Amino acid sequence: MPKDYSPFTPGQPVPVEFFVGRSKEVQKLVDSVKAATAGKLQVVFLTGERGIGKSSLASFVHRIAEQNHHALGLHSFLGGVVSLEEMVRRVFDRLLKESLGSTWEHKVKEFFGKHIRQVGLFGVSVEFEAEGKDLRRLVHDFAPTLQNLIQRLSDEKKGIFLVLDDINGLAGSADFANWLKSFVDEIATSKPLPLCLTLVGLEDRRRSLVSLQPSLARVFDIIEIKTWSEDETRRFFNYAFGKVGAAVENEALDILSRFAGGLPVLAHEIGDATFKADTDNRIDRKDALEGVVAAADIVGRKHLEPQVFAAIRSPRYRAILRKIAADPVKMNFVTRDLRKQLTAEEQKVLHNFLARMKKLGVVHSDTEAGPGAYRFGNQLHYLYFWLEAERAKKSRD
Ligand SMILES: Nc1ncnc2c1ncn2[C@@H]1O[C@H](COP(=O)(O)OP(=O)(O)OP(=O)(O)O)[C@@H](O)[C@H]1O
Ligand SMILES: [Mg+2]
Repeated sequence: MPKDYSPFTPGQPVPVEFFVGRSKEVQKLVDSVKAATAGKLQVVFLTGERGIGKSSLASFVHRIAEQNHHALGLHSFLGGVVSLEEMVRRVFDRLLKESLGSTWEHKVKEFFGKHIRQVGLFGVSVEFEAEGKDLRRLVHDFAPTLQNLIQRLSDEKKGIFLVLDDINGLAGSADFANWLKSFVDEIATSKPLPLCLTLVGLEDRRRSLVSLQPSLARVFDIIEIKTWSEDETRRFFNYAFGKVGAAVENEALDILSRFAGGLPVLAHEIGDATFKADTDNRIDRKDALEGVVAAADIVGRKHLEPQVFAAIRSPRYRAILRKIAADPVKMNFVTRDLRKQLTAEEQKVLHNFLARMKKLGVVHSDTEAGPGAYRFGNQLHYLYFWLEAERAKKSRD
C-alpha cells in the first residue's frame, strides 16, 4: 500500500508538534527575546553543525515569541546572499509577508508606502521593492527604521525577534562585520531598540566574523546546539511513528537511533526511508535496516557537498572511509592503526587520500592527539560513511 503521509520532514525546519529536546537552548533564546521586549538589545549567535537543528530551533522560538511575548518575529533565510542591500531587502520583504492577513497589515503597508509591488498572476502576492539608492539608505538607517517600525506597531508588538538565518555568504565579508558592529554601537548610544537579533550559522562563520571585526566577540551571546542524546533520539522516533499509528519494536529503535547518531537531519532521512520500507504499521528490525540502507543513498546525494561526493566516487577511497567509520562513537582515528586494516592497494593511496580529505575539510589533523591522528570535521560526513559501511555490508550478505 503506498503511503502518502510521512511524519518526517527531511530538509525542512521541523513542524512545532514534532520538535524534540533542546529545552535549555530554547529557554535561553526565549529569555533573550523577553529581555529584548523589555527594551534591551540582544544579539545572539545560534550555532551548531550542519543539520543539527538551528533553523528549526529559531522557528520554534519564533512561534513562542509571537504567542507568549507579543514579539514581531521575522525569520529571514539569507543563503547565497552576499550584499547588505539584498539582506535588508529580504528582511523587509519578510516583514511585508508576515503582516499579510494580520490586524496590523495596514500599518505595515503604510510604513512601506510606494515600495510595495503586486506580483504573480492577477497580483495575488506582494513584494517589497526598492531601488539600489533606497536600499543603501536602508542599510545605513537600519536601526532608526526598525525604531520607527516598532513605534508604529506599539499597540500590537512589544519588540522584534529578527533571525538572519544561513548567513554563510555574508559572514565572510568585512562589510557585514563592520555594519553589524556599527549597528550595535548606534543602538547603544541612541534610543533603546527592543530587538533580539539572532544570527544563525556554522561555528567557523562566527569565527570568521570575529576575525574580521574583533569587537564582535563581545557582542554575541552564543547558543550552541549539540547532538541529541540517545534518549531524545528515541523519543523523536517513537513520537513521529506514533503520530501515524505505527509501533516501533525495541530492536528497530536501537538501530534507528544508533545510525542517526543524534543528528536530527539524519534521523529524518532514516525515519522517512524506514516509514516507506514498512508495510504493516509495525516497524521491525528488517524495516529499520532497509531504512538505514536507503537513507545512505539519499543522504549522499542530497546532503553531501558535491566535491566530497565526487571525491569519494573512487572505490578505493570509499573502502578506506568505510574502514575508518566502522566504530559508532569514535570520530577520530590514527593512521598507524588504520594502515593495519587496509589492503596493499589501499595502503598505496592512503597518503593521497588523506591529503584530499583534508583539503575538502572532511578530516582535520588532530594535533593534540599527536602525529598521524585525525578527526572528522563534522558529524554528518562521519555518519554518512558509517551508513555507507552498513550498506556495503548488506550488499555483501
Ligand atoms: N528539535 C527537533 N526535533 C525534530 N526534528 C528536528 C529538530 N531540529 C531539527 N529537526 C529536523 O532536522 C533537520 C535539520 O534541521 P534544520 O534544518 O533546522 O537544521 P540546521 O542546523 O538549520 O541545518 P543547516 O545547517 O543545513 O541550515 C530537518 O529535517 C528538521 O526537520
Ligand atoms: Mg538551517
